[in-house]
Amino acid sequence: MAAQLLDGKAMSEELRADIARKVAALKERGVTPGLAVILVGDDPASQIYVRNKGIGCEKTGMHSVTIRMPEDTTQQALEGQIRALNADPAIHGILVQLPLPPHLDEAAALAAIVPEKDVDGFHVHNAGRLLCGLPGVVACTPKGAMEMIRRTGVDLTGKEAVVVGRSNIVGKPMAMLLLQANCTVTMCHSRTADLASHTRRADILVAAVGRPGFITADMVKPGAIVIDVGINRVDGRVVGDVDFEHVKDVAGWITPVPGGVGRMTITMLLENTMEAAERTLA
Ligand code: GUN
Repeated sequence: MAAQLLDGKAMSEELRADIARKVAALKERGVTPGLAVILVGDDPASQIYVRNKGIGCEKTGMHSVTIRMPEDTTQQALEGQIRALNADPAIHGILVQLPLPPHLDEAAALAAIVPEKDVDGFHVHNAGRLLCGLPGVVACTPKGAMEMIRRTGVDLTGKEAVVVGRSNIVGKPMAMLLLQANCTVTMCHSRTADLASHTRRADILVAAVGRPGFITADMVKPGAIVIDVGINRVDGRVVGDVDFEHVKDVAGWITPVPGGVGRMTITMLLENTMEAAERTLA
């Protein structure tokens, strides 16, 4: 294996210890950071994510509540719940677990969260601030991925970064963060012609497409930083979007799945919640 492993578990442990110290300091000032997660329906993958978020909060000393709502919840009931949490002083972060059941309006639900409590960074207010280069809440997965990229120590200025995937929750904010770091950014997606011609130029390659093993070794520039955002279930195993077994011999750095970006996502959620609580004292 040529590549160095970017270990999300080890990085998270370090970061979570720092978050726990800051939470303890906030508690001394009378504020316990609180996260509320709303889970509508019983999607099995979402149940696992939500449980891990709760465990993360508990271990860093934060307060967390999970509000479970039935699959047939109305938009009105969902937004009513969000408004109640907006007004609750014990709650500093609100997260609506996605995907929502198809009858619900996701954009409207996210818009109902007050931007100060939008610890996912999905509200158009926070997404817009990121686009404009203003401080705001940054979405957890791209924020965690960026932290991993920074920890390689590579000077990012002028580097070619290629993001594969254009979702609002990963691809678009990831591209903005790389742009802010002075990379030359290319966004690729399912309709990109000759994808490999782009990915082969990438000093930093971020894969967020949701297709197991999609990025193969011949698509990777030797020595590249390869960030795998994919979480795909194949025959009961969790695998990424990158063909790890072969790409690891070409890349300079690579994130594993599991134990890579996914772990960092929850760490950044904890950080965003702690920071939202800190802002109430500012
Ligand atoms: N579903 C999968 N990932 C996420 C996430 O980061 N935030 C929310 N709210 N839902 C998700």
